[in-house]
Amino acid sequence: MVRKLPQDRLTVALPKGRLFDQVISIFASAGIIENLIKQDSRKLILQVDKFNFLLVRAKDVPVYVEYGVADIGVAGDDLLFETKPDVYIPVDLGVGACTIMVAGLPEDRDKYFSNPTSLKVATKYPNIARDFFGKKGVKVQIIELYGSIELAPLVGLADFIVDIVETGRTLRENGLVVLEEISPSSAKLIVNRASYKTRREEVMPLIEKLENTLVKG
Ligand code: PRP
Repeated sequence: MVRKLPQDRLTVALPKGRLFDQVISIFASAGIIENLIKQDSRKLILQVDKFNFLLVRAKDVPVYVEYGVADIGVAGDDLLFETKPDVYIPVDLGVGACTIMVAGLPEDRDKYFSNPTSLKVATKYPNIARDFFGKKGVKVQIIELYGSIELAPLVGLADFIVDIVETGRTLRENGLVVLEEISPSSAKLIVNRASYKTRREEVMPLIEKLENTLVKG
């Protein structure tokens, strides 16, 4: 059993799921790893080239990096805005682009834009929703959900949702419309603050390789 990861390798926390392949492909084009890595096993620690890769739930990546178990990681702005981890954010990887939106049923559009004093909002981003409506002076009752957020207004659990929209397909297929944009979001490289200083000789070349690849497009 691994209690402490080999410290001669940099540890990188990567989100399992839809971002994984895109991030691995950027790492490979940048020459950071030699070959593509596939998510075809249930292993959670992969030792590849000079790295320990930890495969974690997207939402947990900033936790592993902030606590220093991972030196670096990849996380979307949506999660960074939501959890505000104390990490460096040196590179925009450009992938995982989406927009954090307020959405609802078309028939509730007038209600939304009629300067309501309070709203019932379902979301997996309670802090983003609270901040956004707080700045507008609107009180919100947050219903926190973990997925299928678009269902909430359809069944009367909430009036509106705050969620990420990528292609817009989930909204469209459920008869919902965008009401307001909160912020664009894309995947960022994040670095533990201590590792940024103590492992500079490994972290800086990695950042440079990523930047060079991203500039070349
Ligand atoms: C995300 C998000 C939306 C959907 C947006 O959910 O919460 O539901 O993707 O993508 P689209 O605009 O391309 O349709 P995800 O697929 O991560 O699943 P979840 O509902 O379980 O969170």
